[in-house]
Amino acid sequence: MNIIVVKDYDAMSKEAFKIMKAVVTDKKDAVLGLATGSTPIGLYKEMIADCKAGGASYKDVRAFNLDEYVGLDYSSDQSYVYFMRANLFDHIDIKLENTNIENGKAADAEAECARYNALLAANTIDLQILGIGSNGHIAFNEPGTPFASVTHVVDLTENTIKDNSRLFKSIDEVPRKAFTMGLSNIMAAKKIVIMANGANKAKAVYGLVRGEVTEDVPASILQNHADCTLICDEAAASLL
Ligand code: PGA
Repeated sequence: MNIIVVKDYDAMSKEAFKIMKAVVTDKKDAVLGLATGSTPIGLYKEMIADCKAGGASYKDVRAFNLDEYVGLDYSSDQSYVYFMRANLFDHIDIKLENTNIENGKAADAEAECARYNALLAANTIDLQILGIGSNGHIAFNEPGTPFASVTHVVDLTENTIKDNSRLFKSIDEVPRKAFTMGLSNIMAAKKIVIMANGANKAKAVYGLVRGEVTEDVPASILQNHADCTLICDEAAASLL
């Protein structure tokens, strides 16, 4: 794993953007794997500023998001489909029809997972952006998720519900289930950038980089990826 430790969140976002820009400049129709959460917002701001200034174009880029809450769709501002439009897609030249995410309101969850897996099988991701949960999850693959997993519905752990409740009016409003790409879908990406900032991520970052490769720490699977870069701030790197 390549490891880049920088001073702060801003520097982390800029480092990630350098890799993003190289990928989408090199391949106009790149396939991006994108993430939600606080971590990638700075990267998305860099992409927006650059695109608005006439830099990289995303008009032929396709995007696949990692996960979505079961029961939420664009009509909820807590949904990840809403997040992606508000924080990125509505501000760059990507075509909305080229953006993909699990449908949180799908009537048949199993069919929705099969639909998403078929799409992923047909589209190799050139660059996958990831954050990491304080419990070592990537996407919503919580500790104990099989490494061979593909897109599935998960019961969110109490830890994740608590972490994510900061974005909801109350903890009771946090959905208890989510669709998520599986760990083997994520590992199929050609290149992965995982970002982490803040002291509350230090233990997870240690598990990601130095811990045993174990399903108890889902992110540890990335030690087996041929082209994975961790970009983190000093606080998140403090246990390395
Ligand atoms: P965060 O979430 O970016 O909001 O910290 C990361 C994650 O849970 O994967």
